[in-house]
Amino acid sequence: MAEGIFIEGLYSLSGKVALVTGGGTGIGRAMAEAIAKAGASVVVSARRKELLVQTVEQITELGGKCNFVSADLSYAKHIPELVEQVSTSFGPPDILVNAAGVNFRESAENITLESWDKTLAINLRTPFFLAQSLFPEMRRKGWGRIINLASLQSRRAFSNGLAYGASKGGVDQLTRAMAEAWSKHGIGCNAIAPGFFPTELTSSIFNDSERASRNAAQTAIGRNGELRDLEGITVFLASSASDYITGQTIYVDGGFTAK
Ligand SMILES: NC(=O)c1ccc[n+]([C@@H]2O[C@H](COP(=O)([O-])OP(=O)(O)OC[C@H]3O[C@@H](n4cnc5c(N)ncnc54)[C@H](OP(=O)(O)O)[C@@H]3O)[C@@H](O)[C@H]2O)c1
Repeated sequence: MAEGIFIEGLYSLSGKVALVTGGGTGIGRAMAEAIAKAGASVVVSARRKELLVQTVEQITELGGKCNFVSADLSYAKHIPELVEQVSTSFGPPDILVNAAGVNFRESAENITLESWDKTLAINLRTPFFLAQSLFPEMRRKGWGRIINLASLQSRRAFSNGLAYGASKGGVDQLTRAMAEAWSKHGIGCNAIAPGFFPTELTSSIFNDSERASRNAAQTAIGRNGELRDLEGITVFLASSASDYITGQTIYVDGGFTAK
């Protein structure tokens, strides 16, 4: 049996278009690259143009197709314009990865109305309204994929993570609710909950080697995440390989939550 052809077909993203928010850095960039390597055209979006351009260059060097749209995703009013701009590159997206996120790491006593609203807007509100804007085209095609970014804090509390944890708990439920609403139209809605991966967001943790080691020791595998650990799950959830999986939050945490 031609096993290679089977795998290639099942996991291929050839002909698909993806929008990856937060695609200028860290997890978003790694997921954008994985999706491009599987054959999709990718549009990355975040605020910093120079970092988005780097992602475009990296993907282009790999032989993939990539473009960027710079936008501040904390403002819901920007979403229709973003969707319009994104669609002019390669057509309307079939795959949405909501990887833009913030964590202001304030103590419960110090959270302000402004930082609470910003956290909830970027981490929870925008993922929903972006998906809602892309839904009509996905429904028309009878196929789509939405991948949200949850967190260990979707399930448990860490210090100075109250607003972030509330937003990521929301992402966990949002993922189920999106699946309930949209999966009957062929749209898979799932979330990845990463353990500890070295990015801008977690620099304060990784700069503290004792803390980083403690987190690594808490996993079953015995190390923290590396961005390449997200490639397989990204292509799996973005492709037809995951056709009958929806509403799930998958922990890519080296067994952190299993221990
Ligand atoms: N790293 C981890 O261990 C870990 C663990 C669990 C969950 N996550 C989640 O994974 C996702 C990616 O995080 P990361 O670790 O890769 O951190 P990161 O490198 O800091 O990525 C966050 C991204 O969000 C974008 N962003 C922030 N504010 C924005 C805004 N107002 N408008 C548009 N884009 C904005 C940033 O780009 P600009 O600043 O250029 O806008 C950046 O590209 C987040 O949802 C995070 O919560 C990460």
